[in-house]
Amino acid sequence: MSCSSENLVIAIDGPAGVGKSTLAKKLAERLRFFLLDTGALYRVMALDLLRKGISPEIAKIPEELLKNCDIRIEHADAQMRLFLGNEDVTALIREEQVGIAASKFSMLPEVRKALLWLQRRTAETGNIVAEGRDMGSVVFPRAQAKFFLTADLEVRAWRRFQELTDKGLKTEFQEVFEDMRARDFRDRTRSESPLIQAEDAIPVDTTHMSADRVLDRIISIVRERIDLFGKA
Ligand code: DC
Repeated sequence: MSCSSENLVIAIDGPAGVGKSTLAKKLAERLRFFLLDTGALYRVMALDLLRKGISPEIAKIPEELLKNCDIRIEHADAQMRLFLGNEDVTALIREEQVGIAASKFSMLPEVRKALLWLQRRTAETGNIVAEGRDMGSVVFPRAQAKFFLTADLEVRAWRRFQELTDKGLKTEFQEVFEDMRARDFRDRTRSESPLIQAEDAIPVDTTHMSADRVLDRIISIVRERIDLFGKA
């Protein structure tokens, strides 16, 4: 079962730095849907495992460790707050090192399995905009609208570099570029749920598009589809 029959799912997939998060957030705001940022869930899991002293290079993670990971999602105004137990880790999981660890841990089938039910359960709470790497292909194969965003690696690395610099974090462009290239490779080549475009996903190349243009294009497609489903 991909999602509850009453609820709508808009699936947005694509590589790191392609603009998925900005788009998904704005789309959720406009449509008054819940936002499901699944990269954030992998990041919370990675933070928890790092704190437990697990190396991201590990080949297999004992099931008890994954079961003990107490991830909680709170939704407010198309925003998503993430908790590990009672601790709000929404800001902490944005650190580059956590992102890199998330990309490594997410290669493990047991990690993906542990997060699958949490992602699907969220879709039972209301209409959602779900963004990640395998929304349209694995987690929500019956989503009513699927988009696959792409952009040149260099452009994505610049966007990420700018984002980090704006946050006052000191970093080198070349380092961001290499990290992103390595992350792309892992995301696309892992055996479990690799980053691929679902057959029925609509491709959108954002290389030369502003965030607003991407949003307008997607909103118009979504509105057509949502009308088809008879929902506002
Ligand atoms: O989108 P992000 O950078 O926050 O995601 C962090 C990592 O989590 C990403 O490198 C790969 C992994 N991920 C995944 O494997 N599947 C998803 N649906 C979302 C993220």
